Order: sequence, then C-alpha cells, then structure tokens
Amino acid sequence: MYRVLITDNLSPAGLKILEDNPEIEVDVRSGLSPEEVREALKSADGIIIRSATKLTEEILQGQPRLKAIVRAGVGVDNIDRVAATREGIIVMNTPAGNTTSTAEQTIALMMALARNIGPAYATMKEGKWERKKLTGTQVAGKTLAVIGLGRIGLSVAQRAQGLEMKVIGYDPFMSAERAAEYGIELYKEVDEIVKHCDFLTVHTPLTDETRDLINAERIATMRPGVRIINCARGGIINEDDLADALESGKVAGAACDVFTQEPPENRRLIDAPNMLATPHLGASTDEAQEMVALEAAEIITDFLTKNEIRHA
Ligand code: MLT
Repeated sequence: MYRVLITDNLSPAGLKILEDNPEIEVDVRSGLSPEEVREALKSADGIIIRSATKLTEEILQGQPRLKAIVRAGVGVDNIDRVAATREGIIVMNTPAGNTTSTAEQTIALMMALARNIGPAYATMKEGKWERKKLTGTQVAGKTLAVIGLGRIGLSVAQRAQGLEMKVIGYDPFMSAERAAEYGIELYKEVDEIVKHCDFLTVHTPLTDETRDLINAERIATMRPGVRIINCARGGIINEDDLADALESGKVAGAACDVFTQEPPENRRLIDAPNMLATPHLGASTDEAQEMVALEAAEIITDFLTKNEIRHA
C-alpha cells in the first residue's frame, strides 16, 4: 500500500480517485503545524498540497519514505525544491487546470479597476451615490502589457483582445514571431514594455529574477495613470513601491490577488488609495479546483504505482 498525505483542501473528485485505488491509502489532514506535517510525512510515500502547506528544508530533511510531492496548482514556490531534490523527492505540479480561472480573475480585476467597481460597491453599501467621483475609463482601445506569456499570460491576452485592447508582451522564452501569431507585439526588455501601457499585468513565477520586477524605478517610467494587476505571486511587484505610487497618484489603480505574505499582516498596500485586494482567488472556482484535484490525484497515482513522471 502507498500512503498519500493531503494537507490542504482538495476537491472531492480528486480524493475519490485516490480512495478508489486499492493500492493507495489516503490520509487527509488539514490545519497541521509545520512540526505536525513533518511527523505525518514520516509514514507517507507522497503528499498533495495547495498553497497553504509550506514544505521547507526542515520538513523535507530526513524523510526516507517520501518519494513525491504534487502541488495541486501551478506555483511551486511553497516547496523547497533544492532540498527536495537533495533528498531524492520528486516535485510535480498541475500546470493547466487553473489557467482559465486565473485569466478570468485577471480580467475581472482589470475591469473592476477600469470602472471603479470596488469603491462603487463600498460607497453604495455606505448609503452614498457617488456617480461623478467614480467616472471610469474604457478598456477598448487601451494597451495592456502582459509580462510572462505562459499559459495564463496568453489566456489573459486572448481575452483582452476580445475586449478590443491592444496587447503587448514580454517573455524571455518567446520569439517575436510566435507572439505575433497570438496578435501580441513582443518587447525585448521589461524596461521598455512598462513605458508603453495603460494597464499592466504580471504572469511570471516568483523567482530571484522576477522578485521586485515591478519596482519604483520602473513605475517612474510608466504612463501616468497606469493601472496594475497581480494575480501571479506576491513579490513580483514591490508592495511598498506600489503603495507609494498609488499614494502619489502615479498609478491610478492596482488590483492584487496575491501578496508577499498571505494573509498579509502588513496593511500598507491594502489600505493604499485605489487598491483593490482579493484573497488569492485566482484558482478558486469549482471548475479549476476539480481539474487540479483530478490531475494531482492522477499524477501521484501514476508515479507511485507505475513510476510515471509528469510535470516535474
Ligand atoms: C497556483 O499557483 O496554482 C495558484 O496560485 C492557485 C493556488 O495557489 O492554489
């Protein structure tokens, strides 16, 4: 019997695949402390997590039974991959299941920023009727910069084109020809693309290269009144620099679904003017959660029972 530990919420469809497999025993335990995760892993062959469980070096060290970690989602920044590799533990993810939902969340936030939906909702609830103050802007005819043209970035680009926006993009792994096939004008430098947009959205992983990619220096070169969206990872946009730019009015509005610390204890960015915040909801749809759960369950089953490796 292979034992699979699940420490974050996994949709029932994924659980069923595991429970129906006679070779697998499932251990679902959420809300564990890091020490409890470490203990529970001692008797697990594999673990499925989302973003709440942090698999640090301390947790992964000395786990001779553990062979595989599957992240039900895209980002693996909550797993110390160097430590996992050193311990001989494979790390896999489910790169596709979230794409549409995260792209839709990005578009929803962009539209909400353009039409001041956040303050309109809040002021109506307070009994106010503030039509003049809440005049917005059309997105049609505006330029959207998409930084990171992977699955989600491309899906956002496609949707924005449907809204009659001009889409420009940056991605060091994409050629200008391929970008042109998607109707995207490709820029070769982040320093350049940031100067030429009315809306900017980031869709990169968080790495040493992308941390603080959008910072005070780059914001200073942007068009006045630019609007910025982050549904990727907290830290790609420097939170203090964005708060400063919202306070000065250089950035007309920002929408963040993700934060350097979740839930954020530092309220400075969240409390900044024209800042719209959501609690990491990009992949939180019934459809996306079902897809990632199914995929995660299949990936861990195939790895443990057939030694098949996917999305490592
Ligand atoms: C992801 O990396 O897949 C998303 O941020 C969603 C999540 O963390 O569950």
